[in-house]
Amino acid sequence: MKRSQINYAIDKAHAIAETFRVCLPEFAFFTADAWRKQPLEEWGEVLDLQLGWDITDFGRGDFGKVGLTLLTLRNGALNSTAYPKPYAEKMLQIQQEQQTPWHFHRHKMEDILNRGGGDLCMQLGWATNEALFDERRTVEVRVDGRRRTFKPGETLVLKPGQGVCLPPRLYHRFWAEKAFVLGWEISMVNDDKCDNHFLEPGGRFPAIEEDVPVKWLLCNEYNRMNVK
Ligand SMILES: [Fe+2]
Repeated sequence: MKRSQINYAIDKAHAIAETFRVCLPEFAFFTADAWRKQPLEEWGEVLDLQLGWDITDFGRGDFGKVGLTLLTLRNGALNSTAYPKPYAEKMLQIQQEQQTPWHFHRHKMEDILNRGGGDLCMQLGWATNEALFDERRTVEVRVDGRRRTFKPGETLVLKPGQGVCLPPRLYHRFWAEKAFVLGWEISMVNDDKCDNHFLEPGGRFPAIEEDVPVKWLLCNEYNRMNVK
């Protein structure tokens, strides 16, 4: 992705949050320059756990079609005494027709919610022991506590207000229809280094082309704090 696209995506994400009257924590408003003026010793948890903005095209190079805007609000760290919090929370912003590709989590159970906007559409299917997509095994999930069954790859439509609980090793792919969707994730601790498995090659974080100066640091870029 180009830096200009990332700067723009985060500007837009702030505007959308405002439209939905979602108030964000202080660190969501820190530009790279504002971070440099902060007492960093007080912000250890945010920096160490990489809370903050996360813009990705999943390495596919077409953010409008395959991509996601995330803001990690809360997280913990596995087997950590410093950060024992066992849960995580993220805001997700999904553009109309923008998809998050097929993936599952090895350990993380997550609830994905539609907090407003259009329809959040999701396909589901179990991973086999070899991490392939199981074309035969029926999927049973809970949508707001209601048991629902789906054929592998069948589409679940989450209307605004609805949310689904996704257990580990359940492949999922989602996108927004009709309009932009403000999504939300409530989950066990998030570990993007080891816990994600994507069905197709691509990856979790984009390669960035620095075409303009950095306005907003992504959550995995805090080590660039002193780089102008
Ligand atoms: Fe996921």
